[in-house]
Amino acid sequence: MKKIFGIVGHPVIHSLSPAMHNAAIKHLKIDAEYKLFDIDPGDPENLANFCYETTLNNISGFSVTMPYKLNIMTYMDEYDPAARITGSVNTVINEDNRLFGYNTDTMGAMQALREKTDLIGRKALVMGAGGAARAIAYGLKEFGAEVFLFNRTMEKAEEIAKAYEMETIDYRMIPDAQFDIIINATPVGMLPNSEESLLHANQIPAHAVVMDIITNPLMTQLLKEAEKAGAHTITGERMLLHQAADQFKLFFNMEPPLEVMEKAMYEELRGRK
Ligand code: ATR
Repeated sequence: MKKIFGIVGHPVIHSLSPAMHNAAIKHLKIDAEYKLFDIDPGDPENLANFCYETTLNNISGFSVTMPYKLNIMTYMDEYDPAARITGSVNTVINEDNRLFGYNTDTMGAMQALREKTDLIGRKALVMGAGGAARAIAYGLKEFGAEVFLFNRTMEKAEEIAKAYEMETIDYRMIPDAQFDIIINATPVGMLPNSEESLLHANQIPAHAVVMDIITNPLMTQLLKEAEKAGAHTITGERMLLHQAADQFKLFFNMEPPLEVMEKAMYEELRGRK
């Protein structure tokens, strides 16, 4: 019987995941389909019902995106260490009517960074204190980076820093700290506020690698500032690609065809311009 997968979120219409997963499914000739599951957040019962009816609807697994990455934890029978530590799930596997929650955002971000830089011993700044920031900060620490957190609401950054044994940094001290790696894990710079950036060129060292997790637009104001500073940049779709590839591995227990997924993602992005 054909296996059904998909993405749970709201809205999901702009998601790049169906293009990537369906291209990989087709390439490997798997009898499966990856769909959109748009769940209205107006009623919390909607997410609960979706989870309870996974088997009934013949759904083998699904991706989870905004705004459900934290709430979905409640409906998991078990979860992996990355999901437990970051408190967020972006991948669910239905095994004999038991739901297993995973988080591939952490590894996705680490793989995106490792395309441009080593992590061990590097001084890294993570801006933000939401689910994405937690996942990335935790990953960086695991890979041996020295992690500093900055957030608009500093108490939240301090909480994470305490839990994960990291440092926080005062905004004014950022230029002097000479970070090797800088990551924006906040929505600052996302459309329609695409002219906003938490840092300006004079706060970014020329040797730094700067990554933004925002995908609309890809070239955020922060990355433009980084280019002005002479720094290296990583756009948000690189993390998206790698988290999807790790997700595919969990869905099908097969090596993901990364190049096929990458090509499908860029074709989809080009089609939107
Ligand atoms: P997610 O779980 O997707 O990472 P989130 O939990 O909504 O998203 O977290 C968003 C992060 O972006 C938070 O750290 C938030 O800062 P606060 O903790 O002060 O709310 C940060 N953020 C959102 N809008 C911001 C803005 N305009 N300026 C600075 N930081 C902002």
